[in-house]
Amino acid sequence: MGTARKHVVIDPATGKLDRCIFSEQAIYDEEMEKIFGRAWLMIGHESLVPGPDDFFHTYMGEDPVILTRDGEGRLHALLNMCRHRGNRVCRVDDGNAKRFMCTYHGWTYRNDGALEYVPGEAQAYYDALDKSSLGLLEARVETYAGIVFATWAKDAPSLEAYLGDARWYLDTVFNRRDGGMQALGPMKWLEPVNWKTLVDNCSDNYHVPTSHLSSARVQTRWLGRPPLSHEDQFASPNRHAFVNGHGLTFRDADDNLPRYVHGMSSETLRLFQEYHNTTMPEIERRLGALRARRVQLANHSIFPNGILGLRLALPRGPLRTEFWHFVLLDRDMPEEIKHAIRIGSQANNGAAGMFEQDDVDNWRQVSLASTSRFGRRHPQDLSMGLGHAGPHPDYPGLVSERYVSENNQRLFYRRWEEFMNAGNWADIPLDPITARFDGTATMRG
Ligand code: FES
Ligand SMILES: [Fe+2]
Repeated sequence: MGTARKHVVIDPATGKLDRCIFSEQAIYDEEMEKIFGRAWLMIGHESLVPGPDDFFHTYMGEDPVILTRDGEGRLHALLNMCRHRGNRVCRVDDGNAKRFMCTYHGWTYRNDGALEYVPGEAQAYYDALDKSSLGLLEARVETYAGIVFATWAKDAPSLEAYLGDARWYLDTVFNRRDGGMQALGPMKWLEPVNWKTLVDNCSDNYHVPTSHLSSARVQTRWLGRPPLSHEDQFASPNRHAFVNGHGLTFRDADDNLPRYVHGMSSETLRLFQEYHNTTMPEIERRLGALRARRVQLANHSIFPNGILGLRLALPRGPLRTEFWHFVLLDRDMPEEIKHAIRIGSQANNGAAGMFEQDDVDNWRQVSLASTSRFGRRHPQDLSMGLGHAGPHPDYPGLVSERYVSENNQRLFYRRWEEFMNAGNWADIPLDPITARFDGTATMRG
């Protein structure tokens, strides 16, 4: 008792990964403390709380949190737990409220977390209650291009340092326009998988031509999308990069094609191309020519549980994950394009998305394999591309030589070890920011 366990789960020389991390309750409990209790977590988007006194109910790991905007416009992430006995003080998904009243005994909190009113403060408590020490527990909050992050760790680095050079890539989707983005959603559903399985999948381009073959054929036939083959994936000049736990895959092409994944079809291509052409001068001013014209962020994850845009993989036990799927749109896009992206995003991903359904069963089996008494003695094999990644003259982070590689997966589990073995944030290494952020875009948008 009392001695912290040392986690060694990935062998960097062979890529062998211990399966026990996907199903053991004790490991899961430790993850909630050491990863979800420390990391900067994506919890929402500023557009979900646009005005004074707006709020949006979200989660940090398993902990229910109210994201509020107070009357002065400041954001707060407040643990949804009454400081008296622990009842939830907010029971709805979103809304507008200056105060939250606990429905057990009536303690009432302002939307900045302060405890404002206690029934019987004079009569029952003899004026001896220290209300100032009994506000709702508040996490640190910072934003990146409108995406709201929060952490419980007082000693965590700034969000800017936490994202580090990953932002160089993230900007190409999240920070393109002066007007910023808006989030629609979320759509929510439960999956019988361990949260890490699907986060590691965000850099897995190897599975795409196999798992998604039938969905891709449907898209080729009905939407005019290019066909998908193993040869294309293996020959692709696209890359993987890894920074501070964040896994990034990106397309490197100076082909002046619109930078969107969802909603583009032979019918809508003209609209997207026009939008791309008219906005390019603004995007080039914001991101510089290299990022605006050549780099397109593809599948990615933000450590620990932000995936593929504004989607959250919320842990709900070793073998259960709650998915939250938002659609992110440039706020100033024409309505027709917003509509096409909204429909396309849900057709691909989301509870009824074709690609999502292809993925879930694989993830479920991979997670369940770790409960097999015999199977779990044999590690996962993540050896693909070992020794074929390193620094790149144009691209920040640790960059793989090929688009298909398990470099990001190996590094994701190594990052997991770094968090799980650290006593506090001082023990967690961070790569320095070295990328050149050409253009006017900043952390603030
Ligand atoms: S639990 Fe909230 S007022 Fe008692
Ligand atoms: Fe997939």
